[in-house]
Amino acid sequence: MSVVLITGGAGFIGANFIHFLRRHRPDWRLINLDLLTYAGNLENLAPLAGDPHLTFVKGDVADRDLVGGLFDRHPITRVVHFAAETHVDRSILDPGVFVRTNVLGTCNLLDAAREHWQGPAAESGPRFLQISTDEVYGSLGPHNPPATEASAYAPRSPYAASKAGADFLARSYFHTYELPVLITNCTNNYGPYQFPEKLIPFCLSQALEGKPIPIYGRGDNIRDWLYVTDHCRALLLVLEQGAPGETYNIGGGQEKPNLELVRLLLRVLSELRPELVDLERLITFVPDRPGHDWRYALDTGKIEARLGWRPQVTLEQGLRETVGWYLAQAGWLERVRSGAYRDFLRQQYGAAVAEGQGRQKAKGKSKK
Ligand code: NAD
Ligand code: DAU
Repeated sequence: MSVVLITGGAGFIGANFIHFLRRHRPDWRLINLDLLTYAGNLENLAPLAGDPHLTFVKGDVADRDLVGGLFDRHPITRVVHFAAETHVDRSILDPGVFVRTNVLGTCNLLDAAREHWQGPAAESGPRFLQISTDEVYGSLGPHNPPATEASAYAPRSPYAASKAGADFLARSYFHTYELPVLITNCTNNYGPYQFPEKLIPFCLSQALEGKPIPIYGRGDNIRDWLYVTDHCRALLLVLEQGAPGETYNIGGGQEKPNLELVRLLLRVLSELRPELVDLERLITFVPDRPGHDWRYALDTGKIEARLGWRPQVTLEQGLRETVGWYLAQAGWLERVRSGAYRDFLRQQYGAAVAEGQGRQKAKGKSKK
């Protein structure tokens, strides 16, 4: 039986991955190590409460004794490392915690795996999957081809730099210690359980509260969007069939300028909630994110050719699923919009956006 250490499993993608594994690999034993920062939420795993195959451990990936102790006590043969500080805007406000968690935390996990996967343990074919991002390749112009796995790293935000540092460490452990490391770099995910600081759930949350939707700059920056379940499917394939030492790009092939994406999202929302009309009037242009990367895009030919993966969910379908989930889980959204969340919004956007002060609200009321 596989024992899999999942880090950051109470966050957005980690929680979706745990739900995915419970459906597709029900006999695997999962250990979820998560510090429960502002982004971690055990409610994301509530449907699995009491599952004997899932163990939760609250703790820091950078805690050497804790992580070593987990490897001592459990026959861990797989690590899927999601835990990270993940929000670019927060990395601009406070880079230090990104270096600690993303770089030192990853180094600590790699060390624990290296120490414990020697001798007979190495025979069991262990694997360390480092979950990374397209942001490490840096910003593309309109005519640049999408980044391939061979493209040079050129991170430009503290978040991206910390993820690049973690990836370089992971690669170095493969070359230096023959640790069976695999790396995936993925484009922007969206779907259930995403914390409402990221563009899609943030816009939804603001729209449902009738508050301004802040768009950085002119809204022409481009991101590629992937529904989270498509990402989970790719991760399981890489974990089981990928070649150690290799990197795999994962992307949706659905590039959109931010403004266009937000308009599409608002259209889907008003179709599902017809009483919410005129939502576009909430769109508010605000000063740009410092160093805002203009475009990310990935060439996913490698994972398609070698592992047969392709995204299955179109952007419109995925947005419908996502909006439907947030509407059905109004209580989840309400609970994560804590005092600390509102403090962050005030610091990041000012009171006009955070509180909707002095702004005209969208017409219509939400159904209660
Ligand atoms: P998230 O912010 O929703 O969740 C991060 C989780 O990590 C939280 O549960 C948090 O409590 C936990 N965590 C943070 N610091 C920790 C620490 N020191 N020790 C233990 N746990 C800690 O993140 P996400 O969006 O689910 O992203 C997961 C991973 O996927 C990250 O590594 C991120 O870089 C990568 N990624 C995300 C996206 C995306 O669009 N969201 C795209 C590509 C790659
Ligand atoms: O590309 C993968 C990355 O996607 C992940 O590695 C990161 O963890 C994840 O946060 C995400 O980074 P982005 O910076 O692309 O995501 P974010 O949701 O913060 O922003 C998406 C785009 O929308 C970006 O161009 C900035 C813009 N934006 C974002 C917010 C929060 C706005 O215009 N207004 C906003 O209020």
